[in-house]
Amino acid sequence: MNILFIGDVVGSPGRDMVKEYLPKLKDKYRPQMTIINGENAAGGKGITEKIYRSFLESGAQAVTLGNHAWDNREIFEFIDSAKYLVRPGNFPEGTPGKGIVFVKMNDLEVAVINLQGRTFMAPLDCPFRKADELVAEARERTPFIFVDFHAEVTSEKQAMGWYLDGKVSAVVGTHTHVQTADNRILPGGTAYLTDVGMTGPYDGILGVEKEAVMKRFLTSLPVRFEVPTEGRAQLSAVYIELDRKTGLAKKTQRILINDDNPFYS
Ligand SMILES: [Fe+2]
Ligand SMILES: [Fe+2]
Repeated sequence: MNILFIGDVVGSPGRDMVKEYLPKLKDKYRPQMTIINGENAAGGKGITEKIYRSFLESGAQAVTLGNHAWDNREIFEFIDSAKYLVRPGNFPEGTPGKGIVFVKMNDLEVAVINLQGRTFMAPLDCPFRKADELVAEARERTPFIFVDFHAEVTSEKQAMGWYLDGKVSAVVGTHTHVQTADNRILPGGTAYLTDVGMTGPYDGILGVEKEAVMKRFLTSLPVRFEVPTEGRAQLSAVYIELDRKTGLAKKTQRILINDDNPFYS
């Protein structure tokens, strides 16, 4: 079982990169399962039903979210009927949507879990205790368990990686929009990457117009963040190979496609 995970897709530049490169990545890596983090897919803020469906149509089997899940109000209309859309599972009881989905791939099943960190982020329920709960639920059905841990600080993400080592197939971080170079397989067999990075504008700051972000730092005044619709773009992803029997990782490979790191098929 091989998994391709594409990091935070930002706006139309990110969506266009998915359209252009997902077929090429599938040709090169032959993943059976593709997962996309779509929390910024609608103009940087949340996701719409149309975009969620377009990800499935372009070949993804599941879409994860994060702290921006609720930015586009359309989410409340379709999240409960979107079978393959996962939001952080440690939002309070009663929050719409779900923190785990199961995807059938021929005779195998993959569980996709989404959790959110609490350091420098909203004070949600404990992601570690919620992980225990969701991983136990997943392990009753399958050894193939992918965790998208949406968190700000590297220490909280590493802690989740070590906490779940040997219990899940992979713990991959999202949210910072900057890919880290620490992909590895932990001693218990869990694939780990602190942050997979962002898919979207290459010459902005974390995917939004750089002028606004600089103004914010220079003046401390409130500014409106917009996703630039023109200019260069990048794609960030990770490819993970899993053992067919144990569900543990055999290989990880970071993928970064931009003008400084061109894609060779
Ligand atoms: Fe994001
Ligand atoms: Fe985020």
